[in-house]
Amino acid sequence: MAHIEIRDVSLVYDTPAGRVTGVDKASLSIEQSEFLCIVGPSGCGKSTLLNIIAGFLPPTDGEIRIAGKAVSGYGQDRGVVFQDFAQLFPWRTALGNVAFGLEMKGIGKDERESTARKQLALVKLEKFADAYPHHLSGGMQQRVAIARALAYNPAVLLMDEPFAALDALTRDDMQRLLADVWRETRKTVIYVTHNVAEAVYLADRVVVMTPHPGRVKTMVPITLPRPRDPLSVEFLDHQKQLLRELGQETH
Ligand SMILES: Nc1ncnc2c1ncn2[C@@H]1O[C@H](COP(=O)(O)OP(=O)(O)O)[C@@H](O)[C@H]1O
Ligand SMILES: [Mg+2]
Repeated sequence: MAHIEIRDVSLVYDTPAGRVTGVDKASLSIEQSEFLCIVGPSGCGKSTLLNIIAGFLPPTDGEIRIAGKAVSGYGQDRGVVFQDFAQLFPWRTALGNVAFGLEMKGIGKDERESTARKQLALVKLEKFADAYPHHLSGGMQQRVAIARALAYNPAVLLMDEPFAALDALTRDDMQRLLADVWRETRKTVIYVTHNVAEAVYLADRVVVMTPHPGRVKTMVPITLPRPRDPLSVEFLDHQKQLLRELGQETH
């Protein structure tokens, strides 16, 4: 049995201007410990699909099962990281942010702090435990968000363009760090991006979606050995293949 089963999931937004399809009959299965990227043009429904998997939006149709259990709302088996730096609580330190989910779970202060410190170490921020978000760079804030999502040890990590707002150099660092975190934690990851190089760097498989209304177009396996070299011929070939699937011609 696959870890995550997405079966014919559709969502229609009801807006004052009429009905808008968010995602159209998406079907996918994701294996345990797999790193799956979803790529597609802006507005195709990537965030909608991720929010449905997270349990933040109920689908209009279809079903999602995680470890055999139907998803009906948010649960702590899923950690979520968004693009927006503002996802952290500004009034809490880095440590306080990471400890948040553990607090909700009713875990005592000492255990909470030691777990949160371990997670901060995993994202190489152990020295910044007492810093507030506004004193941290964008990349550091996203690392705190990753540590927070991992703190209560969810089986699944859901990420929606977490590095899209970072400059290119920081983004490269973050991708390397995330690849390391994934290797160490072996979470099942669903990672949304519109950046094909990012998908080739990170993914075991890449789902390509059609333009709006988003459907699953193809699935491209990336079998390159890790760590991957973004300048290798094989890497660039995969990148070109994805761009072709997206209908973006390359020269
Ligand atoms: N809250 C909403 N209300 C109405 N329409 C929405 C809402 N969120 C997204 N949409 C529409 O659903 C489609 C998919 O959006 P989204 O999932 O955000 O795409 P992506 O993340 O791939 O850019 C788009 O046409 C978008 O305009
Ligand atoms: Mg989006």
